[in-house]
Amino acid sequence: MEERIIDSEISEFDERFEQSLRPQLLGQYIGQHTVKHNLQIFIEAAKMRQESLDHVLLYGPPGLGKTTLAAVIANEMEVNIKMTSGPAIERPGDLAAIVSSLEPGDVLFIDEIHRLNRSIEEVLYPAMEDFCLDIVVGKGPTARSVRLDLPPFTLIGATTRAGALSAPLRDRFGVLSRLDYYDTEALTEIVVRSSKLFEADIDPNAAVEIARRSRGTPRIANRLLKRVRDYAQVRGTGSITMDMAEQALEMLQVDPLGLDHIDHKLLTGMIERFRGGPVGLDTIAASIGEESTTIEDVYEPYLLQIGFIQRTPRGRTVTQLAYEHFKMEMPE
Ligand code: ADE
Repeated sequence: MEERIIDSEISEFDERFEQSLRPQLLGQYIGQHTVKHNLQIFIEAAKMRQESLDHVLLYGPPGLGKTTLAAVIANEMEVNIKMTSGPAIERPGDLAAIVSSLEPGDVLFIDEIHRLNRSIEEVLYPAMEDFCLDIVVGKGPTARSVRLDLPPFTLIGATTRAGALSAPLRDRFGVLSRLDYYDTEALTEIVVRSSKLFEADIDPNAAVEIARRSRGTPRIANRLLKRVRDYAQVRGTGSITMDMAEQALEMLQVDPLGLDHIDHKLLTGMIERFRGGPVGLDTIAASIGEESTTIEDVYEPYLLQIGFIQRTPRGRTVTQLAYEHFKMEMPE
């Protein structure tokens, strides 16, 4: 299988790798100033009142550090964190098992919370609002509802699609924080910090170059850094120079804007087969053999952000900027 630098899925290996790089405190978390500043105040207030923190919804594109931030929040609150995800909770009993093991003040992190099924959402409402669970036990005529009291806890939900959350669920979060793409300066800081943790020697310009090609995404910055470091070890002296970084990034087919071969396939496909659009998401996806959801959640948000595509009621269109990037003529 071909190697992917941009990906919404995290392998177990990446997961461990990311954990080793994860900041523990808000003060070590780089970027997202508004979100951090607000959280700092809410955390301090909750601690002063000796209460659990209000439920927090973190949303934004994949790879921006939602899981990392949830772990930082729990650490700052000095409580435990239990991590799960929307698709992993299949039955109300699964949720009951998790929440009933929480200690007062603990954080329950639900990744991809937009993928919770509706019957579970309904069990979650009273859990969030009144810290109790109404569980039906037994079947048929002997079925009865049992109320289970829970300790006060903080639900931190993460999603790439806040719009896909039902309104009643969204309304039960006291704090809604949107994570944005990182600027090059913040990503450079992340690359330099990670290099230190790896004990890898890096030229500051090489760090900037990796940052520039990371699509505003720390997860991608850390992955690129790791591959560049491999390249420098095998082809150079181990030291990550500008030369090594550029060669490695070229080998990885990551262009100067951080676009990879799938972005290229997507954009040139739209240009060559659909005259730049408008074209529907499913049509593009089918024509290049990718999943619609991968394009919508992983590729498209960054291309929208840098102004290479636009969404119109009739479908997606490629902009002048993208034509210029590929040195192609835009049709009249
Ligand atoms: N590693 C991944 N994301 C990070 C961030 N926002 N700050 C510091 N290190 C990180």
